[in-house]
Amino acid sequence: MYHVRKAVLPVAGLGTRFLPATKAIPKEMLTVVDRPTIQYIVEEAVASGVRQVVLVTAAGKEAIANHFDYSYELEAYLQAKGKRDLLEEVQRVTSLIEDIVTVRQKKPLGLGHAVYVTRHVVGREPFAVLLGDDLVDAEPPCLKQMLQVFSEFKGPVLAVQRVPKEEVHRYGIVVGEKVGDRVYRVRDLREKPRPEEVDSDLAIIGRYILIPEIYDYLAQTKPGVGGEIQLTDALAALKDDHPVYAYEFEGTRYDAGDKFGFMQAVITFALKHPELGPRFRQYLKELSQKLS
Ligand code: UTP
Repeated sequence: MYHVRKAVLPVAGLGTRFLPATKAIPKEMLTVVDRPTIQYIVEEAVASGVRQVVLVTAAGKEAIANHFDYSYELEAYLQAKGKRDLLEEVQRVTSLIEDIVTVRQKKPLGLGHAVYVTRHVVGREPFAVLLGDDLVDAEPPCLKQMLQVFSEFKGPVLAVQRVPKEEVHRYGIVVGEKVGDRVYRVRDLREKPRPEEVDSDLAIIGRYILIPEIYDYLAQTKPGVGGEIQLTDALAALKDDHPVYAYEFEGTRYDAGDKFGFMQAVITFALKHPELGPRFRQYLKELSQKLS
């Protein structure tokens, strides 16, 4: 079956890079212009045909599921006040995704473990994984592009982008042979290698299409880099028995899990915003004149 209906969104991490902002608020609820980052991710999944979102959550992350839930009091209030535009916007978020399931990851044992805890909900069908840390500005959406590759090559697909050599140590890195337009068959995979360990600059970003067999490999995966159960390590084992593909997506990715990348995303999305965009562009022009 090459139809992907389910998307796993791991949101159980601690978000330490944004402390103290993330002490009481999940980092996925930090706002990029007028919506939390997690909404961009759900919108990408839905626009790619996903029908069920599986959130992997932890204590203190309740606001994420609430954001997509029906809020009777808020809607009644907006209705009574005649605030039609706001009401429509709130209703649009509520109706984005009907089927939303949360699974608890009791301890932050790593991304691989966060995916593993979804095995009973996802079952034996292919599924997508999207990380809130990566906002991808692309048309068609990044996941939709990957689904095209999945239906053609009929194997797991990892979204990759080229990164400078000095940044290789921050990513899972793929070594592969080109087998199609922007598509590579994965020969080797390393999580956060030293630059001299790999001869590749293809870095995995937070979008995956996986097959259910990955759960069998995750069950066997021991803690790796940082003492965490790494999804990359399970994929490295999987690729010996099932062909795995890397796809260099078309679009721009922002590392919203990091302060600098987050600010880049805010500025880019503000410039694109239909109401704010023109005013914000003018402001940036004036600011850059002052700075130069
Ligand atoms: P990160 O390590 O980038 O996220 O994990 P983090 O731990 O939240 O952030 P920092 O590094 O402390 O600032 C990548 C993604 O995997 C999820 C995170 O929520 C994030 O979306 N994750 C990570 C889990 O769900 N569980 C884990 O045990 C680890």
